[in-house]
Amino acid sequence: MLVHAITTNAVYEFAADVRAGLTRPGQKELPSKYLYDDVGSALFEVISHLPEYGLTRADERLLRRHAREIVDHLDSPVAVAELGSGSGKKTRWILEALSQREPTFYYPVEISRSALAMCERELSDIDSISIVGFEREYLDGLLEVAARRQRGRHLFVLFLGSTIGNFDRPAGVKFMTEVRRILESGDSLLLGTDLEKPSTQLLKAYDDELGVTAAFDLNLLARINRELDADFDLGQFAHVARINHHARSVEMHLQSKRRQTVRISVADLRIEFFEGETIWTESSHKYSAEEVIQMARDSGFVCQAQWIDEQWPFAENLLIAE
Ligand code: AVI
Repeated sequence: MLVHAITTNAVYEFAADVRAGLTRPGQKELPSKYLYDDVGSALFEVISHLPEYGLTRADERLLRRHAREIVDHLDSPVAVAELGSGSGKKTRWILEALSQREPTFYYPVEISRSALAMCERELSDIDSISIVGFEREYLDGLLEVAARRQRGRHLFVLFLGSTIGNFDRPAGVKFMTEVRRILESGDSLLLGTDLEKPSTQLLKAYDDELGVTAAFDLNLLARINRELDADFDLGQFAHVARINHHARSVEMHLQSKRRQTVRISVADLRIEFFEGETIWTESSHKYSAEEVIQMARDSGFVCQAQWIDEQWPFAENLLIAE
């Protein structure tokens, strides 16, 4: 009964967000968080293996090489909360380094149930690590973790993979400020940020030759068909990646190949598209290393250390709550 109530609310919230995004004046848009249902999360996992998309490998390389050093910066003991754990693969190095110091609780917070299950399976073999997953939005999950804090134990929050880049710049700082509000002084945040790189490289990374990113993007329309009883014709939309030089971001759009009308029953909506019109589905902002230090200050942290990957410019930033 309770499960049914939660599911129904989630569907209505999804329908309300789709309605708001597709009826707003000017650029139509859909919130990027809806890219990550089970199919979308599985496709994102494939994207992270593509030769054109070096972001996840850079993140993993830095964590593998520097886990010991990162952990050595932290006061002992800590509990780890990860916002958007995904499959959990890249977190292994940090948890292994911590497990050599003391038994540690690890709280992955994830909106995708399948990703959470994968993460729990992936990391369950590490000695002295107890995993308690939360299927929640990031801040709700972090609040629950903070409520379980044991006296004298610092929280170490992981926000990896440059997920911060999927917020626009002011929203990113606002999110970090909200995280800071939940934390106590001396707690820490390890923030992964993708750094600026040439446009040609970014366009290939977000519009790969195999079409996996296109499938990831189009799955959002397929999801609306599945969950909101809609009739998007996937063959009549094309995935497009664009550089926004002003915002210093790469944008994903779904472009209507012709004039068409789409019905979305659960959102009580009939929506018209003109030929060439796009739905903006995601932005991925790119940063300079110095800018991240300033973002930390603006949100109540100090940046204690940065580790930068040379192969695919990416920074791991260790921020301490002031
Ligand atoms: C999850 N996030 C950091 C990815 C990114 O690069 O912005 C999502 C993604 N979208 C397309 N490819 C990857």
